Amino acid sequence: MSEDFLPIKGYDHVEFYVGNAKQAAHFYDKTFGFKPMAKRGLETGDRNVSSYVLSQGKVRFVFSAAYTPDHEISRHCALHGDGVKAIALEVDDVESALRESKARGATVLKPATPVEDEHGTLVSGEIKYAGDTVFRFVERKNYRGPFSPGYQAIEAHGSEPVGFASIDHIVTNVYLGEMDYWAKWYADVMGFRNLAHFTDKDISTEYSALMSKVMENGTGKCKFPINEPAEGKRKSQIEEYLDYYYGPGVQHVAITTGNIYETVTELRNRDIDFLRIPDTYYEYMKNRVGDVGEDWDKLQELGILLDKDEDGYLLQIFTAPVQDRPTLFYEVIERHGSKGFGIGNFKALFVSIEEEQALRGNL
Ligand code: FE2
Repeated sequence: MSEDFLPIKGYDHVEFYVGNAKQAAHFYDKTFGFKPMAKRGLETGDRNVSSYVLSQGKVRFVFSAAYTPDHEISRHCALHGDGVKAIALEVDDVESALRESKARGATVLKPATPVEDEHGTLVSGEIKYAGDTVFRFVERKNYRGPFSPGYQAIEAHGSEPVGFASIDHIVTNVYLGEMDYWAKWYADVMGFRNLAHFTDKDISTEYSALMSKVMENGTGKCKFPINEPAEGKRKSQIEEYLDYYYGPGVQHVAITTGNIYETVTELRNRDIDFLRIPDTYYEYMKNRVGDVGEDWDKLQELGILLDKDEDGYLLQIFTAPVQDRPTLFYEVIERHGSKGFGIGNFKALFVSIEEEQALRGNL
């Protein structure tokens, strides 16, 4: 077996470019239960960007907005709306990560850049990914501060957490015909392997379909499914995303929980909207899956999906988009042995998504 030339320790953070970082941070605190940890902005001497760092379990999100109209973040938001700019991965050696990925075809957008304060030195660098999205490598082995130099810790109480533990996978939507390009890119440039492949026969309804490949890094810690639209009678949800995001980008972030019943109950109490699942789904799945020791009535009441494969089963649920544009949404997932992505649920998900899409007049 060849050596992993890009050893990844795990997801470091996800950075979102938004129109209003203060309000985005408030939303993620009050609804999803993320705790504000650190910030930068005018108060900390940053004249250009306001950023809030929030965390829950091992999940760390950064929301950034610009103070001026001609800033890169402002232009990004004007084109894409609020969305994911950077998927940050923790590595031991940013210099090496950039050198190895560049040698295999990566476009380096930001060279290894050390920044330091009284807590030590943090190094980061970036390579181009789909659309305007980037992969950021972060080396924090010599840094002991709350997040990064330039940020100040926040003494915030924050809302009660909802049980989010870690990022499970991050999904990108790309244009028709680009999925294979990006799958190959992950394999060549990042040294990832193809974990699964779903064709439009697996994931289709009468109206729309998608194809998906799942790429996984050497340690199995990071998984990145790539979706592209497939031909359907009407516009697929992937096309709708691409139209509204004005290009490829992150479609959803899946976050694990140890108790999906409690997490979803709490999120529903805090007015998070989830995709409506038709009652017929539960009749169908009860027959298909049988008894796995979960409470089907409770699953139905909360709208939680269940899928089973040879390794076990998983429970999952999808939120509605979290901004005006029908672009980024979240998945909450609880795994019981299954390493899959809920393939049996894709179709049920599609039917449900299309109901919502029809309501927006976009089907
Ligand atoms: Fe997912």
